[in-house]
Amino acid sequence: MLSERMEKALNDQVNAELYSAYLYLSMSSYFDSIDLQGCALWMKAQTQEEMVHAMKIYDYVLERGGRMVLKAIEAPKSSWDSPLAVFEDAYEHEKYVTSLINNLVNLAIEEKDHATQIFLQWFVSEQVEEEASASAVVQKLKLAGEGGGLFMVDRELGQRQLPVPMPAAG
Ligand code: FEO
Repeated sequence: MLSERMEKALNDQVNAELYSAYLYLSMSSYFDSIDLQGCALWMKAQTQEEMVHAMKIYDYVLERGGRMVLKAIEAPKSSWDSPLAVFEDAYEHEKYVTSLINNLVNLAIEEKDHATQIFLQWFVSEQVEEEASASAVVQKLKLAGEGGGLFMVDRELGQRQLPVPMPAAG
């Protein structure tokens, strides 16, 4: 059984993960609007990963006999000044999510909730990857600059596999 504080904090984290999915989908849509299809696909894959994060926590709350009460998801930003600005925002956002996960671990320790501490370890490791992958793209875009370099990076990002294959259009 989850404590009331832990249940509320995990509910809030589901909202934060769904917001992350929404933010990355907004970034994907922005990239589509400036014809950077590779960056758009990378962000779509990121959106799907965030949905997986949200559902992992959702299922865990239910498994522990808790209740999930869904709240409104804040509207994300929808335009940026450059591709680099988008990935800089993504990197900043991941650092913020890491701080949220760390707060959850601290709360689980305070509540002496060992099961939740163990459950959260996956997210602690995942955040290391999440920050590293966003930061790597920021570095690539800085090196690439505008023009040809940008299109090379776009092509490379377009190689990312979607965790859930999208149905063919039409
Ligand atoms: Fe769910 Fe990108 O952290």
